[in-house]
Amino acid sequence: MGFNSKYYWKGLLSCGVLSLSLANLSTNAEDAGNLFNTPYDVNQGERYFERQCSRCHGFDAKGNDETGAPDITGRLSRASTNVGVFNIIREGIPNTAMLPVDSALPDAQVWQLVSYIESLRYDPSTVELAGNANVGDTLFSGKGECADCHMVKGQGGRLGPDLSRVGENATPTELMSSMTDPHNDVSPRWWTISVTGPDGVARNGFRMGEDSFSLRIMDNDANLWSFRKNQIQSYERIDQSTMPSYDQLLSESELDDLVAYLFSLRREEN
Ligand code: HEC
Ligand code: HEC
Repeated sequence: MGFNSKYYWKGLLSCGVLSLSLANLSTNAEDAGNLFNTPYDVNQGERYFERQCSRCHGFDAKGNDETGAPDITGRLSRASTNVGVFNIIREGIPNTAMLPVDSALPDAQVWQLVSYIESLRYDPSTVELAGNANVGDTLFSGKGECADCHMVKGQGGRLGPDLSRVGENATPTELMSSMTDPHNDVSPRWWTISVTGPDGVARNGFRMGEDSFSLRIMDNDANLWSFRKNQIQSYERIDQSTMPSYDQLLSESELDDLVAYLFSLRREEN
């Protein structure tokens, strides 16, 4: 190794002359691709991101429901190339909260942001997993009974989120904890409510609809129940998942196989 790129760049950046030559380099950036993608650049991009972008996109860049800023760690919906990401950062997205960056920010620094965002994305082909995705596929619809609740590419149940593309936005570690620790951080969409109507029987289900006079839920057998609000005897919200924890239900190697299968679930390339 001739030099440590981190210190090399740091040294250069600390002298004013370089910012000029960086500006020259970046005029040809579209042709040359991203020239600012060393580990040092990724690190600089991250620092800038934390100061200017994280308040909307979150420190982990996984998005934030309140600001409407999307998760940018997976496949982006608005850009499929580096140049596309560069342009979004440089120009913003019209009529949204995504504003352009300060126009005085050098292109080099915008490229560093692009490098940082790129570094967040998993290249699935470089990730080595212990499990076997084909065995996981079999477990998913067989012994694990996952398909009772989850749909993958149009097959399966509706009692949990569609997992057809779950591998794009979740890391293998997150997929594992979805199975072993399902009650952690359940989104309100999947909370259960327990409603006792005029017959005195408590019924549990997902909230399907509500207006001033009535409330509708769907139970685990996909039956719909409708209640008139003035006849409801009790009502309780349960912020736990209906998904069982598989910690004890499946062996460690079966869980690894499922992680490998889930991680392989992505948009079809064509
Ligand atoms: C004030 C809040 C806010 C700030 C600050 C912000 N963004 Fe955004 N960003 C958004 C919103 C909202 C969207 C989604 C716009 C849309 O597509 O409707 C978005 C979209 C994006 C996208 C496109 C995502 C996709 O899936 O295509 C990228 C990339 C992005 N932002 C990067 C950044 C970077 C880098 C910064 C810091 C320089 C930043 N954003 C700062 C709110 C923000
Ligand atoms: C009784 C229904 C049910 C069964 C069976 C079930 N799940 Fe779930 N699953 C859910 C629900 C509801 C959620 C959403 C709430 C949560 O995060 O736990 C969920 C969430 C998930 C998530 C997180 C998805 C995301 O978008 O964040 C993954 C991954 C997952 N399940 C995988 C599995 C696997 C693999 C199996 C089988 C081993 C399984 N599930 C069995 C109901 C179920």
